Amino acid sequence: MDSLSRPLVLMFPPVVECGSGSVSKAGAWAETVGKRRALIVADTFNASRVDCLGLTCETVIYDDIRAEPTTENLDVALALARSFKPDLVVGFGGGSAMDLAKLVAALHDSDQPLSEVIGPGKVRGRTSALIQVPTTAGTGSEGGTRALVTDATNHRKLAVESRHMMADLAIIDPDLTVTVPPAVTAATGIDALAHCVESYTNRNAHPLVDVYAEEGIRLVGSHLRRAVTDGQDREARMAMSLASLYGGFCLGPVNTAAGHAVAYPLGTRHGLPHGLANALIFPYVLAFNVPACPEKTTRILELLGHPAKRSVSPVEVFDLAQAFCREVGIQPAANLPSLDDDELEAMADEAFAIKRLLDNNPRPVERDDILGMYRDLFGLAGTA
Ligand SMILES: [Fe+2]
Repeated sequence: MDSLSRPLVLMFPPVVECGSGSVSKAGAWAETVGKRRALIVADTFNASRVDCLGLTCETVIYDDIRAEPTTENLDVALALARSFKPDLVVGFGGGSAMDLAKLVAALHDSDQPLSEVIGPGKVRGRTSALIQVPTTAGTGSEGGTRALVTDATNHRKLAVESRHMMADLAIIDPDLTVTVPPAVTAATGIDALAHCVESYTNRNAHPLVDVYAEEGIRLVGSHLRRAVTDGQDREARMAMSLASLYGGFCLGPVNTAAGHAVAYPLGTRHGLPHGLANALIFPYVLAFNVPACPEKTTRILELLGHPAKRSVSPVEVFDLAQAFCREVGIQPAANLPSLDDDELEAMADEAFAIKRLLDNNPRPVERDDILGMYRDLFGLAGTA
């Protein structure tokens, strides 16, 4: 089926408050819709500044946020919600906080357990309101309907997707991101780029989503370096917040592909932050996919600021993508644990099992393709 004939549902938050200082509008919105009890899901840093949300109702904070939230974290957050009985849930932080907020909002007063809602379209409804306030520019969770949580028993990512997890209000305030350190700005920025690129080159790509993907890629190409170099550059911060949001718009209807599947074991098995894991894998998968989507790959490079070329080789693409990542400070050697080949084999097995993403990839991916990427990344290339 050609991409124009493919059915697609694209959802947006009904209200997006956007701009410097807009974080304080959470409180006015909550008052307008009559909310009285807000559960705020925030990491410890953001928990210390919840006053900026302007909430005047009763609040309680869940702040035990991990880089890769697990089902155990979710259970604790749900227990808190079931005793507090919120009518509003606020996600205030990065993707981990916002994803947990989605799941808490959908499940805390429902008779559906997590096991019943894994996959698309299983959540029956939601009664609490949901506000999402990102404080990094990368995940785009504020603009999407999907939440990920790691199964504490086997490291597997569980994905829940539902229109009932779309925020009622998303607040995009670049001021919240100016304190994000350069390394985190770079890694989360490449994650936003990966969301746009993996949707754009996806087997299920759609022209309606390509619009957001292309603009997101262009914004990262023109503003990520600035945001890393000068964290106080409000214009660059706003551009990156928009790129992240646009990536989120892409994730709901199209989703990511092999890049995220290959990156996941770096996070689930070795604790690398999601953005960094994706930044390290990004050049490998972009280059791997060149034979399947050469025109879109050259367009991606053009949007990132490289002069237009009729065609590029996978090696050229890898070098250009890795150079872009290095220019913003992503240094593979400085961020990787020392692993042996047995562990890389186990990681390849784990990544190869993520069919929900690998099936989206424009070029079929074999387990040994993934193993080859890990061996190169970890300096074990040539290992048999
Ligand atoms: Fe991501």
